[in-house]
Amino acid sequence: MEISGKTKLCALIGDPVEHSLSPAMHNAAFKHLGLNYVYLAFKVERERLKEAIAGVKALKIHGLNVTKPLKIDVIPLLDELHESASKVGAVNTILNRDGKLVGYNTDGLGALKALENAEVDLNGIKVVIFGAGGAARAVAFSIAPKVGEMVLLNRTVEKAERLAHDLEEKLGCKARFGGLSEEVKRRELRDADLVINATSVGMRPNKNLSLVNPDLLGPDLAVFELVYNPVETKLLKDARKAGSKVIDGLSLLLHQGVESFSIWTGVKPPIEVMRKALESALEDASDG
Ligand SMILES: NC(=O)c1ccc[n+]([C@@H]2O[C@H](COP(=O)([O-])OP(=O)(O)OC[C@H]3O[C@@H](n4cnc5c(N)ncnc54)[C@H](OP(=O)(O)O)[C@@H]3O)[C@@H](O)[C@H]2O)c1
Repeated sequence: MEISGKTKLCALIGDPVEHSLSPAMHNAAFKHLGLNYVYLAFKVERERLKEAIAGVKALKIHGLNVTKPLKIDVIPLLDELHESASKVGAVNTILNRDGKLVGYNTDGLGALKALENAEVDLNGIKVVIFGAGGAARAVAFSIAPKVGEMVLLNRTVEKAERLAHDLEEKLGCKARFGGLSEEVKRRELRDADLVINATSVGMRPNKNLSLVNPDLLGPDLAVFELVYNPVETKLLKDARKAGSKVIDGLSLLLHQGVESFSIWTGVKPPIEVMRKALESALEDASDG
């Protein structure tokens, strides 16, 4: 598709954004469907967010993804919040609907889709989530209403406690919380059905780290890894060896992007094209 006077612009804002895989994923999808859209990434520092959002309105930019550290700060600058964002208290997608900026959060929906695709039935199961940062929050809010038991384990216990409190206050869902000692992990994982790593442990360059001792893994425990660089983390390698069902971090990246794409275009996204674009962008990034 040639860029023209009618081309619609979607963009990522955050800091840093240089290594984002989203431009590759969305531009491949626009191209595949012949949509006259383009996706760019803009580094926006926190203190210039207000100016950036005024610019989005003035330039009539069509859609945004929002990443760290702006996902919360952007909320008061928007005209409307979709329920997906108001519950979690964070925005990762914005649609410019006839001049009104509407904020969404597709991370939670993306997590649900990734789990659904892997045929993980959440109904009534016990889930242990490692982490209590932005990703853990989005995932916990999306799955809490379905699961039977939720345990939040985080290095900084107070953050897990705050997340548990918010889940109860906003959704009426109870979650237990704790730290990451071996004893707690062993006790909680023994009868868990799904463990989600929503910490950055295992991420490049510390790719030989995992929070889960391999002897705690097995065929009865599904493992959802949110780290995607590398895609095959130590946790996922150990989980495959132990016969666990595994869901990788690219699945979440893909499905949150798929949901954003639908919001901006109203068109059914080409999921396979988007996954391939992500994989090859990641390969290029790892080579570089
Ligand atoms: N696949 C996807 O699409 C996707 C989307 C979002 C995020 N992610 C990934 O998910 C991870 C978390 O992202 P985020 O946005 O939630 O980041 P965040 O808000 O900064 O939270 C980081 C989390 O990791 C924990 N953590 C960091 N270093 C640790 C260590 N050495 N030991 C134990 N815990 C540690 C933190 O614990 P404390 O609270 O104690 O600091 C916190 O819970 C990142 O690797 C990110 O790339 C993936």
